[in-house]
Amino acid sequence: MANQDKVPVRLGRVPETLLWNLYHRAYEARQPRTVLHDPKAIELVDRLDFPFEETFGPPHPLLAQGQGLRVRSFDGAVRDFLAEHPTGTVVNLAEGLETQFWRVDNGRAHWLCVELPETAELRRSLLPDTERRRILARSVLDLSWRDEVDPGRGVLITAQGLLMYLRPGEVRELIAACAERFRGGSLVFDAVPRWLSAGTQRAETRPSRSYVMPAMPWGLNAGELQKVRTAHPAVVEVRELHLPRGRGPYFGALTPVLYRLPGVRNLRPTMTAIARFA
Ligand SMILES: C[S@@+](CC[C@H](N)C(=O)[O-])C[C@H]1O[C@@H](n2cnc3c(N)ncnc32)[C@H](O)[C@@H]1O
Repeated sequence: MANQDKVPVRLGRVPETLLWNLYHRAYEARQPRTVLHDPKAIELVDRLDFPFEETFGPPHPLLAQGQGLRVRSFDGAVRDFLAEHPTGTVVNLAEGLETQFWRVDNGRAHWLCVELPETAELRRSLLPDTERRRILARSVLDLSWRDEVDPGRGVLITAQGLLMYLRPGEVRELIAACAERFRGGSLVFDAVPRWLSAGTQRAETRPSRSYVMPAMPWGLNAGELQKVRTAHPAVVEVRELHLPRGRGPYFGALTPVLYRLPGVRNLRPTMTAIARFA
C-alpha cells in the first residue's frame, strides 16, 4: 500500500498499548501453524502508518502466541454467550483495534465499544460504525455508557487489556457498576499479577529493548481471584478461563501443567477470568 494511503497514528502512552497488542496478534496470525485466525488484524497493521518495529522492537514470538491464546479465551467466552443469547449485546470496554467482531460475529448480535476519544477516533476511521456495531467515545469510568446498553437481550461485557491501567479503586467501582446494572450478565477480564504491577510502578519494564511499558497500577494474583466477589453482592461467581493449548514446549506442554501447580500460579504474567452477576 502506498504510504499516502496509510492512516496516520498519534496516541498517548496507554492508548498506544493497543498497537502492541495488534502488532503481536497480526504477527501470530501470520504464522503457518497459527493459534489465531485473524486476517483483519493483518489488514489493519498494513493500513497503519506507524513504525511498529522501531517502536516495539521485533515481534516476540512467545509473547505473540500468548497474546493469540489469550484472545482465543476471550473469543470462547463471547461464543458461549452468543450461543445462549444470539441477539445479545457484547460490550467491549477499551476495545482498541481488537478485531473480535470479525472472528466471532453471528450476524445478529449487537456490539458496543467504549473507548477513550483519541482511540475511538482512530478505530472509527478504520472500522466505521454499522447498524449492529457502535463506538462510544467516552472513558469507561464515565458510567453513563451503561445507559446505551439494552439489557433485555442479554449482556456480556469484556475488558481485555484494560483493568491493569486503572487504579485499584476505579477497578472495584467499575466491576461494582457492571454488577449493579447488568444482573444476569457477565464480565470477562484479564489481570496481571501483583509482582508485574509493582514492577511497572517501581522501574522501567521493557518487554523489548526499545519499548517501556506504561505503569500498571492494578494487579491481582490468580490465588486471590475470589476477592473480585467482594466488589458487589451481585457478583455471584468468579472463575479463571484457562488458555487453550498452543504450540511448542511452553504453550503446548508447560502452560496446561502450570494451572495445576498452586505454588506457581501467581507467577504467570497474565490471567483471564469471568465474573457472573445475578
Ligand atoms: C492494551 S490496550 C487493549 C486494547 C484491546 N482491548 C486489545 O486487547 O487489543 C488498552 C486500551 O485501553 C484503552 N483505555 C485505557 N483507559 C481507558 C478508559 N479509561 N476508558 C476507555 N478505554 C481506555 C486504551 O485506549 C487502549 O485501547
